[in-house]
Amino acid sequence: MEIIKSTAEAQHLADTIRNSGRLIGLVPTMGALHKGHLALIDAVSEQVDVTILTIFVNPTQFGPNEDFNRYPRQLEADIQLAESVDADYLFCPEVSDMYPGGELTQVQVSGLPDHLCGLSRPGHFTGVTTVVAKLFNILKPHVAIFGEKDMQQAIIIKKMVRDLNFDVRILTLPIVREADGLAMSSRNQYLSHEDRIQAVKLFQSLNFAKEMVLTGEKHVEVIREAMTRFITGGTSAVIDYVSFADPDTLDDLSELPAGSQVLIALAVKFGSTRLIDNLMVKVPQFQD
Ligand code: PAJ
Repeated sequence: MEIIKSTAEAQHLADTIRNSGRLIGLVPTMGALHKGHLALIDAVSEQVDVTILTIFVNPTQFGPNEDFNRYPRQLEADIQLAESVDADYLFCPEVSDMYPGGELTQVQVSGLPDHLCGLSRPGHFTGVTTVVAKLFNILKPHVAIFGEKDMQQAIIIKKMVRDLNFDVRILTLPIVREADGLAMSSRNQYLSHEDRIQAVKLFQSLNFAKEMVLTGEKHVEVIREAMTRFITGGTSAVIDYVSFADPDTLDDLSELPAGSQVLIALAVKFGSTRLIDNLMVKVPQFQD
């Protein structure tokens, strides 16, 4: 795997690959790689000739009281992991190269960020869409892949690509989980031993919510209350949100329409560590 640090060099490389008629696949990450990231690399490399992994802890998507400074940075370990799969290039620019100063341009998708994670992380998704647009312009991928763990992010990026005619195909990958069901995340390493054990309740609560939906419960408040009680009972967990949303608009639902797809998504804090998870369910067509 070849490592590229400068944006100018990366742009030149992407031009050379494109001009030789080879397909470029992009896997944007912030590093602290785990098996979820590696699965993205595997999935995209099956579709393209050249796979480019990016590692960039993007300052513009972190709020002032968030974990930008303590976000895990472990480039050496990441390089080893990326070399164990089929990544051809690693692009890991400096902040000063990506944002030399004086930027006046942002890419902002409206509406979709006003739900779920966007409510407690104002400006976060503008930081994400701006940096992803920059990465698309620098690396000119034919295909880019994002994880369904960050379902709202994937939905917003797809919308940006449609609205701005980016010539890139967006793939998504189902959530990769630990053996007990906890969604893999670079932030899991912040958890204390006790909180790590309790954190599996996020996935468990999503599963029994799905079960309640499949057995006919249509009132969101009833399901949300059961999930909240289960997650917070005997733990230090604090719920940020438990949301039942229309997967197209991300609008919150209070009644689940028969036959519709519903995104059940949640964010929960253990101390200062905020974890997210989600699951999609199809509401059955029961006779009332
Ligand atoms: P990061 O949190 O490092 O995630 C990089 C990619 O890995 C994202 O597409 C995310 O959804 C995916 N991912 C993370 N955990 C996963 C899991 N358990 N299963 C499947 N996919 C998983 O998301 C970001 O970085 C940033 O916002 C970024 C898009 C790179 C822009 O800065």
